[in-house]
Amino acid sequence: MPPIIRIADAKDYVGETVTVRGWVKRRTGKGKLAFLRIRDGSGIFQAVAFRPNLGDETFAKVKSLTTESSVILTGQIKADERAPGVPGGYEMDLSDIEIVQLAEAPYPIAPKEHGVEFLLDNRHLWLRADSQWAIQRVRATVIRAIRDWLDDHGFLLVDTPILTPAAGEGTTTLFEIDYHGEPAYLAQTGQLYNEANIFTFGKVYCFGPTFRAEKSKTRRHLQEFWMVEPEIAFCKLEELLEIEEQFVSYIVQTALEKCADELKLLGRDTSLLENVQPSFPRITYDRAVEMINEAAARGDTVPPHNEPVPAIEWGDDFGAPHETYLAGQFDRPVFVTHYPSAVKAFYMEPEPGRPEVCRSADLLAPEGYGEIIGGSERMSDPEMLEAAIRKHKLPEDAYDWYIDLRKYGSVPHSGFGLGVERTVAWICGIHHLREAIAFPRVLGRLKP
Ligand code: 4AD
Ligand code: MG
Repeated sequence: MPPIIRIADAKDYVGETVTVRGWVKRRTGKGKLAFLRIRDGSGIFQAVAFRPNLGDETFAKVKSLTTESSVILTGQIKADERAPGVPGGYEMDLSDIEIVQLAEAPYPIAPKEHGVEFLLDNRHLWLRADSQWAIQRVRATVIRAIRDWLDDHGFLLVDTPILTPAAGEGTTTLFEIDYHGEPAYLAQTGQLYNEANIFTFGKVYCFGPTFRAEKSKTRRHLQEFWMVEPEIAFCKLEELLEIEEQFVSYIVQTALEKCADELKLLGRDTSLLENVQPSFPRITYDRAVEMINEAAARGDTVPPHNEPVPAIEWGDDFGAPHETYLAGQFDRPVFVTHYPSAVKAFYMEPEPGRPEVCRSADLLAPEGYGEIIGGSERMSDPEMLEAAIRKHKLPEDAYDWYIDLRKYGSVPHSGFGLGVERTVAWICGIHHLREAIAFPRVLGRLKP
């Protein structure tokens, strides 16, 4: 019996007869030749069927194959530089085939262009497309890089709850559920619990799904997304930014190194990603507002639709075109620090002597991918925090434990949250976040 191998390992079996189990992406050819494009999860390659080698009966089986039929193929691995696939350069000279299931025809997703709603209805099938395969592999690599970097830099993974009694990131995007007769909410963030955990472990992170009932459809917002949130004791904003730039650079460089084939398949121009190395530029919100208003006065526009950069008043939060403009002025991600406290969450430490701004930082990705990280120094004074909770009209009794943290050994501390889908979309160069997660939750859709 020939060994059963995965396409990704074909390079180790050149000249040998092996078995591969997978699916037929496409069948082409004519006369005595048939070409099967085969994927098995690990890679994509071509199996070549030649009638005189196979005999009429087996060749007829090959000719009967429909798109997405499941098959067990046996044949010799050949190295050929021109052989298409991922990784390219290897193909199979078919000697036998077993059809596990002949797929129903026609396959709903044809190689023609489909509308987005159709593709989302068929997400369970769309996921098999080369592009979607590549994106999910980049995602897995990004997630592994996130964990590796944090684990190697003294952060402890501590899981935080999904069912929570109070808002972490503002009350407008809460998903409310019934917790045995009491209202509860799906977690918007694990941060508040992370802040408790630093007093036990010093440096922690949580990493899980988070939920936001975003009321508008945009390419940058999902209802359910994954976020990694590191939190660090004895850490001020300046030190936080140094951690963030190291962390993000590691993620991007790891993806470039490990996913070169996937990024090539996606047609990603990786030259801009190669720049993603420390240090990242830092500008204040004040300076950002000036830059935006200078651009608006000049009539500057932003891609992809050459939209004019709208003017902004000090105190307003940025919209997508503002972020795209700002990010476009730099060759790598840019930190915007010291936002007005009024547009940020209640827990951010005010800047000493300038309480109208807070010690916050957003990291804006290049090429219009917007904010990939939100972070800040946290308020460490219990009375100031109580006042902030009242000011934001949050239910005080739900936060008593959080205020306690400031009473027993309070320290300056900081943390941030990086959105996985935004990071993956940026690295892959895909327009919409919905492709960065296997089963996206977008406004107006819960299936499949
Ligand atoms: O800026 P945000 O709201 O910050 C927090 O949640 C903090 N508690 C993080 C922390 O300091 N521990 O969200 C952080 C990141 C954003 O920069 C973005 O990448 C992502 O989470 N994000 C979303 N991603 C997809 N869909 C949405 N609706 C998102 N909202 C935020
Ligand atoms: Mg934010």
